[in-house]
Amino acid sequence: MSPQSLNYTDAAILAPMVRIGTLPVRLMALEYGADLVYTPEVVDKGIVGCERVVNEDNGTIDYLSKGVSIFRTHPSEKSKLVFQIGSANADLALQAALTVAQDVSTIDLNCGCPKRFSIHGGMGAALMEEPEKLCGILKNLVDNCGLPVTCKIRIFPDRERTLKLVKMIEATGIKALAVHCRYRDERPREPGHWDRFKEIVDAVSIPVIANGDIKEFADMARIRELSGCTGVMIARGAEANVSIFRKEGRLPLMDIVRQYMRRCLETRNHHANTKYCVMQMFIEDTKSPYYRPLCDAKSFRAVCKVFEMEGELDAWVKKQEEHGWPTDLDSAPRKAAESKEKDAKAMAAANGKANGKAKNTTTADVKMVEVVAESTLGKRKQGDLKDEAAVVVASISASVEAVEGTPAAKKHAAGDGASSQPTPADTPQPDVEIEVEVTTTTTTTVTTATSTPLA
Ligand SMILES: Cc1cc2nc3c(=O)[nH]c(=O)nc-3n(C[C@H](O)[C@H](O)[C@H](O)COP(=O)(O)O)c2cc1C
Repeated sequence: MSPQSLNYTDAAILAPMVRIGTLPVRLMALEYGADLVYTPEVVDKGIVGCERVVNEDNGTIDYLSKGVSIFRTHPSEKSKLVFQIGSANADLALQAALTVAQDVSTIDLNCGCPKRFSIHGGMGAALMEEPEKLCGILKNLVDNCGLPVTCKIRIFPDRERTLKLVKMIEATGIKALAVHCRYRDERPREPGHWDRFKEIVDAVSIPVIANGDIKEFADMARIRELSGCTGVMIARGAEANVSIFRKEGRLPLMDIVRQYMRRCLETRNHHANTKYCVMQMFIEDTKSPYYRPLCDAKSFRAVCKVFEMEGELDAWVKKQEEHGWPTDLDSAPRKAAESKEKDAKAMAAANGKANGKAKNTTTADVKMVEVVAESTLGKRKQGDLKDEAAVVVASISASVEAVEGTPAAKKHAAGDGASSQPTPADTPQPDVEIEVEVTTTTTTTVTTATSTPLA
């Protein structure tokens, strides 16, 4: 029996966003009216083999790779949660989907990421150049993963080619198609092609989700009217202020920041990801008196101090301690290198990047996305790396790659996926050295899901 699709009719959807779309932001999007939320892209190999653990303090669920959380969720979002996979391999994509199937509602394949990392790995927008392969991955998921499957694409400049592709994709049996209305090589600052949605909507029978340049709540109605699309998807508008989903209008940014910090406490989000997401909220207002202190904040407490929330942090710490639950939001686990050879290879790759040299995508590249894909983030300086796990070392490359694209990153010049995350590195923060990003986990009990309420 075909799995039940989510309801896309008039749906307002939080787009997949690496680093931004972590659990606290997803929970807030739902709180403010989003109907569905996507995880950031997680590369197939990153999630396959992860250990599933339930955190006893807050009921969140972590998928851990060697102690590093690749994906954190909470049962309260499950019925609205779409898990996005980056993949170029039908078997791995299926394994990835099966790994998380019990905690998510839909599996999405990212076919839109234009970044070098994804393209070199044959993932993201590279799949659009190989429709048979793309459809093979989707068909394998549709036939075997037991959940509804969707996919997210960009468009070709050529209308006929785009329509041919979407019809092929529809024939795989997917339940909905998200379309980011830009060509593979177009940057986010270039206007999207809203005029291209309608022909896609007319060409297929499945729900089409329109994505690109939806900056106001009212844009959702405009784009629906213009295109006949079933649902709409928002990325940067939500990154800047996640209350964009409120029909009554956006809330003041300071309310959002404080609420976000509370969500970070409840879900035990790591300091570096917390800081990064808050900084992105101020990216259009770097003259704000909060911005510079935020750049300088080196711990969760320091971020709380910027927003005068130390009292709330103290109360949270006290409660955690009373129960014997973890309180550390700042440190990332150090991992022993798996093997010298692997470590050296990843280190060389990272150094090549740091020196601005191009290199071919390697297994290390794939590994790094495993780490940066979904997270509460920790940070190391490059000099500390020698004894890091290869997987951690490799993640430097991802950050360097993002740094290489910094002018664009500042204005969200990212594309659609794992290697495309804009980084705070181009903002005037002092600790801008290459970042290694890892998730922290101080958990917990391996069991089945509980539904401990948050807060
Ligand atoms: C910070 C950031 C991270 C992103 N990460 C992903 C991702 O993981 N997967 C994906 O398909 N698209 C990703 N994208 C692309 C967005 O989902 C979306 O397609 C694009 O930003 C256009 O929508 P917008 O105009 O509402 O921003 C990302 C975009 C941003 C700004």
